[in-house]
Amino acid sequence: MKILGIETSADDTGVALIGASGEFGPDFRFKILANFVSSQPIHAHYGGIFPALAKREHANNLPVLLANVRKLYPDRPDAIAVTTGPGLEPCLWQGITAAEELARAWNTPIVSANHMEGHIVISMIAKDRLATFEFPVVALLISGGHTELILVKNFGSYEYIGRTRDDAVGEAFDKVARLLGLPYPGGPEISRLAESARKILEATPQGFHLPRPMMTSNDYDFSFSGLKTAVERYVQSNELQALDREKLAREFEDAVTDVLLFKTLRAVEEFGAYAALLGGGVSANAHIREVFSLKLESVGSKLLVCAPEYSTDNALMIAIAGYFHAAKNEFAGFHSLVANGSLRLA
Ligand code: KG4
Ligand code: ZN
Repeated sequence: MKILGIETSADDTGVALIGASGEFGPDFRFKILANFVSSQPIHAHYGGIFPALAKREHANNLPVLLANVRKLYPDRPDAIAVTTGPGLEPCLWQGITAAEELARAWNTPIVSANHMEGHIVISMIAKDRLATFEFPVVALLISGGHTELILVKNFGSYEYIGRTRDDAVGEAFDKVARLLGLPYPGGPEISRLAESARKILEATPQGFHLPRPMMTSNDYDFSFSGLKTAVERYVQSNELQALDREKLAREFEDAVTDVLLFKTLRAVEEFGAYAALLGGGVSANAHIREVFSLKLESVGSKLLVCAPEYSTDNALMIAIAGYFHAAKNEFAGFHSLVANGSLRLA
């Protein structure tokens, strides 16, 4: 089955085509036939996503990306998967409208895909098949709009066990980056500064210590707005040198990593999970990956994570998640799709 994926939930426009066979399980095989993402540099001016502009950019980008795919594969796909949520509704509608127009022209069935399920399944993939693992898995989804701990009991069977009470981790990265005068998206910028601080200042004291919010609270919730405020206070009362920015970035990244790791490990233990899974844009972060991987291995567990280039938004993950629903004959009715900005997994 060839399935076309369309993703427009935030500021990345994605179109991908996969060829796949088998249901979710050991028989599943797939091949990436095409995978295009167009990011929107325009938001760097605003330090965040500007929804009206993002919608306009999707409208401009989608026909170009679709034409790129059709140059490679002119035949109609067997199904179309499109993100219906969560995300920015005006942006989601752009993808839905495009998917429905194509479905009508091609007489092709449509699958409604959940963006977060996309982030989960792409971290369960190894090359052309599913990675070797068993359920349950504790998934930590960290992106610009979400910070969630989810118990994954099976494909399609999810239970929320924790979430952020204020800012999402990616949002905190973006806000701290802005305080340090770095462009949007801030995650990769903070990561770069933190990495050089680790190289130069290996054993040097930081002289600046951030809290680890809610780390020992008796639940699986998170809070990140206090970290941003602490950085803000420091920046406002000190003249920042170049090195200070690196130290701040490092301490921020360390604080975030400590809290995320502590709670994820506790959940893995409490729920007897086979593995922890990282998904969402922030899971592209090299330091978080390294620390999670080492720590999980040291407690006899395992980390499921995709290649960093697939951590941020893309349509490949939507095509794969959509395929698993298509394989179960879970198609959407004609013109029944609705954008749902706060679509949940359970
Ligand atoms: O999943 P994603 O592409 O879009 C949403 O669904 O939100 O995540 C985007 C977020 C942004 O906040 C961005 O700063 C963050 O992921 N991000 C990173 C890194 N790469 C992207 N955060 C930390 N380290 C990175 N290397
Ligand atoms: Zn995302």
